[in-house]
Amino acid sequence: MLLNKFINKRYYSSLNSDKLVLGIDLGTTNSLASHIPKSLANAKTHAPTILTTTKTPSIVGFAKKNNLEGISTDLTNDKHLFNQLKENLSVFIGDQAQNQYRLNPENTFKAMKRIIGTFNENDEIFESYKNQYSNNVSLNNSVYFTLFKDSKLKVNAEIIAGFILSEIKAKALQELNMENAKVDAVITVPAYFNNLQRKATLNAADLADINCLRIINEPTAAALSFGVLKEQNKDGVYAVYDLGGGTFDISILELDGAVFEVRGTSGDLKLGGEDLDYLIRDYVLDKFLKLNDNINKNDVLNNMSFMNELLNHSEKCKIELSHKTTSEINIPFAFKNSHGDYIHFKMEIKESEIDKLAEPLVKKTIKIFKKCLKDAKIDKQSLQQILLVGGMTRMPYIRKQIIKNFISDNNSEIDFDNKLNYKINPDDSVCLGASIQAGLLTGEIKDVLLLDVNPLTLGMETYGGLMSPMLQKNCNVPIEYKEQFTTGIDNQQIVKINIYQGESKLCRDNVKLGEFVLSGIPQLPKGVPKIEVSYKLDSNGILNVTARELLTNLECNLELITTAPIENNYKKQVNSDVDVNDLSWVFENLGLWQLSFKELDLQFRQYTGTVHFSENIASEFNDLKAKFAAWETMKEDSSKDHEMVEFFAKKGGMNRLKARINKLQTDFMSELKGNKV
Ligand SMILES: Nc1ncnc2c1ncn2[C@@H]1O[C@H](COP(=O)(O)OP(=O)(O)OP(=O)(O)O)[C@@H](O)[C@H]1O
Ligand SMILES: [Mg+2]
Repeated sequence: MLLNKFINKRYYSSLNSDKLVLGIDLGTTNSLASHIPKSLANAKTHAPTILTTTKTPSIVGFAKKNNLEGISTDLTNDKHLFNQLKENLSVFIGDQAQNQYRLNPENTFKAMKRIIGTFNENDEIFESYKNQYSNNVSLNNSVYFTLFKDSKLKVNAEIIAGFILSEIKAKALQELNMENAKVDAVITVPAYFNNLQRKATLNAADLADINCLRIINEPTAAALSFGVLKEQNKDGVYAVYDLGGGTFDISILELDGAVFEVRGTSGDLKLGGEDLDYLIRDYVLDKFLKLNDNINKNDVLNNMSFMNELLNHSEKCKIELSHKTTSEINIPFAFKNSHGDYIHFKMEIKESEIDKLAEPLVKKTIKIFKKCLKDAKIDKQSLQQILLVGGMTRMPYIRKQIIKNFISDNNSEIDFDNKLNYKINPDDSVCLGASIQAGLLTGEIKDVLLLDVNPLTLGMETYGGLMSPMLQKNCNVPIEYKEQFTTGIDNQQIVKINIYQGESKLCRDNVKLGEFVLSGIPQLPKGVPKIEVSYKLDSNGILNVTARELLTNLECNLELITTAPIENNYKKQVNSDVDVNDLSWVFENLGLWQLSFKELDLQFRQYTGTVHFSENIASEFNDLKAKFAAWETMKEDSSKDHEMVEFFAKKGGMNRLKARINKLQTDFMSELKGNKV
């Protein structure tokens, strides 16, 4: 039954020679495309192949071609800006851009996938970019980098991704001799990409005139490629460990017959090979400067092109050390010392030194992997295989750590080669999986079913700041869930829906994704209105929330973020000496009484001016308002958790509050009636 959800009939008709369907891995460091050759469309293997000419380093550089004057700089229209840049500048993509990196780093952009879809330049992820690019501006929910320092031309990560995709598209069409064909594609993203990042990726495809059939999670794509390409599928639970240039992803999948079910997924968007490159660069530089104390450290650090070159050499050395035990970084005439003499940078580095530098990064991945297994309720012994994906998994140290933590257990009987699967080139597997997904959508592949999951619980806030889960973590997508809610007080006309993501019972410890207000609810006694809230998560991982009052059919909806940026960011510690149940009781009840008070206060304000209320009533409203505001501030501050539990739960504060509000309600109503008579 579920199969129908995944095979989109709209695309059946698109199987013709004017159309090329690609699987694209848009990577932080490298991007590439694959396709299913037409001759194999009806064959049993459905084996996609990599289009080798499309392998492109994810770097884009710009140089002036003509006078820049007269070029439109309208940032509100990305497509127009993209075309303006394409027509009026020399745009270098991939290897060519890599070559211009040393000469012109300010106008050459790499690792942009790390910031695609982020709109705040104060985000810590921008630190390294701030040093390199000048005059960054946040505009239209995106950060733009200024080209050529003084010009008005700007680019953002989406535009850069657009250029990479257009290059891949052009190379693929050329390789297959289909120059005039239209291109459809399945594009991969890290499982933890949020809605903005997914949308930015869709937008980049649009800039490149690629019709994106589906956004699919990278580890899921990798698993598809391992499973489908294997000669003999073996049922069981698999883990996909994907450590690329910029991101880490882990997924647990179950293969049952031809059905792939994702049991769990997790990751870190700021953890990848590039981080190790920076660590290596800083380490060798530090060592070099210690040995050469006549060199001014700041001069070296401010020499951007040397620093970039050293970074490139650090990466090369890391790669070399995956099959050698020592390597050397050698940059002749690297920079001048204070006497104006040229200095050669030469330094030997051992594999053990790199391993030490990699240790904290790898430990982080192991921790996330363990938690993912726990969340999916799988123990490591039941893993059929761990599939290795991403260039970094070529590092012997990483393989050893995975074996040590998830496979070995001192069991000499274990066939390591069989447990750790790196049979498919770690650079290609995600891309091949994207083509398999494309084959599923177009109908070229019919005997595999993919069930993907929602990575974190999505819910809404109910009274007292409690999280009411709507879509559980690891539920299969696409999915829609509806639940009916009602009002908490008489004549309530407004309901605010706060949407959260995360695993805590308390909303304040989760990530707030958005909010909207449903107003105009008919005035009825509490509990009578029927408000149906629906959470719909589509196959691209994009969430749409709607709320409808069923008596009037009044509707609101909001489309928003589905996935949390990183695990560490969304957990706020609850004060350790406080019982979380006590605290949630306090928040729940406080929220309830606050809502009652707010409604009462609203009515009070409505009638003030036309009805005369006594001084007592007015001062009680003001006093309670000030108190709720103070409690609101205390709720945000976890160092006050203890005080709140003491006051409200242990010293009867909640009962006193309840009594005050009840009394206020009675007094208010009687004064209102008295005045009206
Ligand atoms: N032999 C090797 N040893 C160690 N690291 C390697 C090796 N080969 C490639 N890498 C590293 O792998 C990373 C690139 O991997 P990959 O191409 O899978 O990343 P990506 O797909 O571009 O990034 P992401 O998946 O994070 O978006 C780079 O950091 C590169 O230095
Ligand atoms: Mg990758």
